[in-house]
Amino acid sequence: MSKNAMVVAGVMSGTSADGINVALVRIEEASSAGLVGSVGGRRRGRPRHIVRLLGQAEFPYPKKVRAAVLAAMNAQSASVSDLARLNFLLGELYAEAVLATARRFRTKVHLVGCHGQTLYHQGDARPFLGHKVATTWQTGEAAVIAARVGVPVVSDFRPADMAAGGKGAPLVPYLDYLWFSDPRVGRIVQNIGGIANLTAIPAAAKAEDLLAFDTGPGNMVIDAVMDKLYGKPFDRDGKIAASGKVIDAVVEQIMRRPFFRKKPPKTAGREEFGREFVAEFLKRCARARKEDAVATATALTVKSIADAAARFVMGKPRSRKSGETWGTPGRASSRFKELILSGGGARNATLVAMLAERLAPLGIIVRFSDEFGLPSEAKEAVAFAVLAYETWNRRASNVPSATGAKRGAVLGKVSYA
Ligand SMILES: Nc1ncnc2c1ncn2[C@@H]1O[C@H](COP(=O)(O)OP(=O)(O)O)[C@@H](O)[C@H]1O
Ligand SMILES: [Mg+2]
Repeated sequence: MSKNAMVVAGVMSGTSADGINVALVRIEEASSAGLVGSVGGRRRGRPRHIVRLLGQAEFPYPKKVRAAVLAAMNAQSASVSDLARLNFLLGELYAEAVLATARRFRTKVHLVGCHGQTLYHQGDARPFLGHKVATTWQTGEAAVIAARVGVPVVSDFRPADMAAGGKGAPLVPYLDYLWFSDPRVGRIVQNIGGIANLTAIPAAAKAEDLLAFDTGPGNMVIDAVMDKLYGKPFDRDGKIAASGKVIDAVVEQIMRRPFFRKKPPKTAGREEFGREFVAEFLKRCARARKEDAVATATALTVKSIADAAARFVMGKPRSRKSGETWGTPGRASSRFKELILSGGGARNATLVAMLAERLAPLGIIVRFSDEFGLPSEAKEAVAFAVLAYETWNRRASNVPSATGAKRGAVLGKVSYA
């Protein structure tokens, strides 16, 4: 293995709280001269790593664990002892997931990058005890992972960006830029997890040209409606949505909420689209058939993504400095032509079909992350492997244009084995 090459296990569990994704990634710096540039760091430009996915696996949370995680996320108040226990329990589960994946692919792991399970995220500073604070909290004890796996672990990626004035999210744009930027084609990289988020990468973009933000609900509302009305965790392949009829009036009403009109950068979570939101959504659908409510939740995700693309990507100044407009017809510089899907929502065929139909008038076709060698479900785990690698090498890896940070920041904390 060449000097800087490492096998890094990226570990992700998202807001859907469906389970753990592990990606084993071999990372190497392209030239012997080392990194050409580090996004957001002192040296600007495009990171030139050679990143190869060696294998990936998914580990659904046991039912009781999922229930405990969702309860902890949704609670107005939760017991400190339960939260403290959950931290150590998840550490064990993450370690088991990494070890099982390494065995399955007969690979030695040198470093782990673990995002952890978000319990709470509030990217904007708000009043608290006479101060204004922003906060974020990911749980899953890294010291436990380091001890069990026997290698260093980078965890808790978000606070350093927030301390530098950013919203702590999104962090995946660093990988999106590395993997999907193209000299000729502008791309919107759209992940549909519990929350949906996009990274817009104009053709031939520099790091500071990136725009990234949460577009709104991804699977979160669909999942909650499925749970309430059918007692199932999600709408497999979008079958139920396909059998229902969208109630357009409900979608239109909800799209008037301030979140959707707010200019990016912006982030969302269970705080915006969790239990209270779903209760209100179901009230609006009260007289509809069950399948219509599922179809309507699906259409809401689709409409919020398509609107975000139309409003904030196609019609938005390309860079703060130049004042050029992205996507202005005929303008060569942006050339948005593709939306690349990843996340569990990419498996919902009804959602994907609705989205393709909505984006066609904008001249955008839908493609899948898988076509580019990044399996939909593994993308975020790969991202945290790459971010961990950067941190291990003491390089900044937040994208200030995406998070709003004032400067680059080395993300995370290291737990040694
Ligand atoms: N076959 C499928 N059909 C429809 N939806 C699916 C399918 N597989 C996964 N999903 C959806 O994807 C979600 C998980 O997506 P994921 O990208 O892991 O989200 P997160 O990052 O929030 O954990 C599930 O909760 C479910 O809603
Ligand atoms: Mg998940």
